[in-house]
Amino acid sequence: MTLKLPMYFDHAATTPTDPRVVEAMLPYFTEKFGNPGSRNHCFGWEAEDATKLARKQVADLIGADPKEIIFTSGSTEANNIAIKGGASMYARKPAGEAGRGHVITDIIEHKAVLDPCKRLQKEGFDVTYLEPGPDGIITRRMVENAMRDDTILVSIMWANNEIGTINEVPQIGALCHEKSVIFHTDATQWVGKMPTDVNADGIDLLSFSGHKMYGPKGVGALYVRRRRPRVRLVALQEGGGQERGFRSGTLNVPGIVGLGTACEICTNEMDSERERLLALRIRLEDGIVAKVPEVQINGHADKRLPHLTNISFGFVEGESLMMECKDIAMSSGSACTSASLEPSYVLKGLGVGDELAHSSLRMSLGRWSSEQEIDYAIETIAKGVERLRALSPLWDMHNEGIDISKIEWAAH
Ligand SMILES: Cc1ncc(COP(=O)(O)O)c(C=O)c1O
Repeated sequence: MTLKLPMYFDHAATTPTDPRVVEAMLPYFTEKFGNPGSRNHCFGWEAEDATKLARKQVADLIGADPKEIIFTSGSTEANNIAIKGGASMYARKPAGEAGRGHVITDIIEHKAVLDPCKRLQKEGFDVTYLEPGPDGIITRRMVENAMRDDTILVSIMWANNEIGTINEVPQIGALCHEKSVIFHTDATQWVGKMPTDVNADGIDLLSFSGHKMYGPKGVGALYVRRRRPRVRLVALQEGGGQERGFRSGTLNVPGIVGLGTACEICTNEMDSERERLLALRIRLEDGIVAKVPEVQINGHADKRLPHLTNISFGFVEGESLMMECKDIAMSSGSACTSASLEPSYVLKGLGVGDELAHSSLRMSLGRWSSEQEIDYAIETIAKGVERLRALSPLWDMHNEGIDISKIEWAAH
């Protein structure tokens, strides 16, 4: 097989839509275009049947009941509904007053969690931001130590989008249920790749997006527990009362059909895909470590997603390395924040210094990644690092045995 360039190693940013998903969606644009809210003719019934099937496909992937699935435009919206809608519902004091309740999250969440939490702070809630250790993991113990009598909501992501580390979600879920605190997890990078059971894992609210799991963009879901406990939320958007009133607005039927199909494919293929991708990731990491000196793989050695790696290349700028490897799509920092020149707040949150944080690349593999691509990437990255280091006075100094961290640079 010939290698097709450019190649795509950025599946944590978005995935290509699986052709089987596109095929399932197509009739719902033209022939089967009805509004599921049209209760009195066959066009509406047909659309309603399609969303019903998709709801079941989504629910089956995460061990939920179809009635517990709320379709949204993606994880950002699902996180907003869960965090702002949940905190407002369980607030101890009315809007406008201080001391409305305590929320726990952590500093390496996606902005789609951090920003709603900041909003809560402006609206009278207290928010604790947990800090992970150098392995990037948020543990049950950390959450337990932060719990207060007035804690109403915990929001901890399942797997981190920049480094792929996996938090102690089932343990945190169990803790929250012991303490009768609502537990939300942003599972955008987890669902569809790793087994999920909202009941066994003690989850009350769970967000994910179609386009991270070979479904279309602009559609996702929020799981809202209906029993033990029945979770209630204040709706952020008012209107036609669709989706049990949690998310008004005409349903995106083709998108929902696509999401459902993507979920069904993941249910059937996840186990074999996970093993294949883990073998590829190990091949990639081993190849780079063998060929390139002074590299560091960020995050916990094992408690990581199988398809994602984040590597710091000492004495090299991540952005420059990407320019050296233009035919490999990778990411330095998360796609959503890579417009800024600030080093990644996630890596800094783990205690990675500015230098190494600036020199890191995230590579995330996917359904069509191949060994051939991995081997090409290892060669290309190794050559790129070599070229950049050949131009770097810091690299020369390092090789001469000078400890660069101890140099006092002249200030101007
Ligand atoms: C962990 C996490 N949460 C939330 C989001 C936002 O997802 P969307 O843009 O589909 O709403 C992303 C996307 O990168 C993510 O990785």
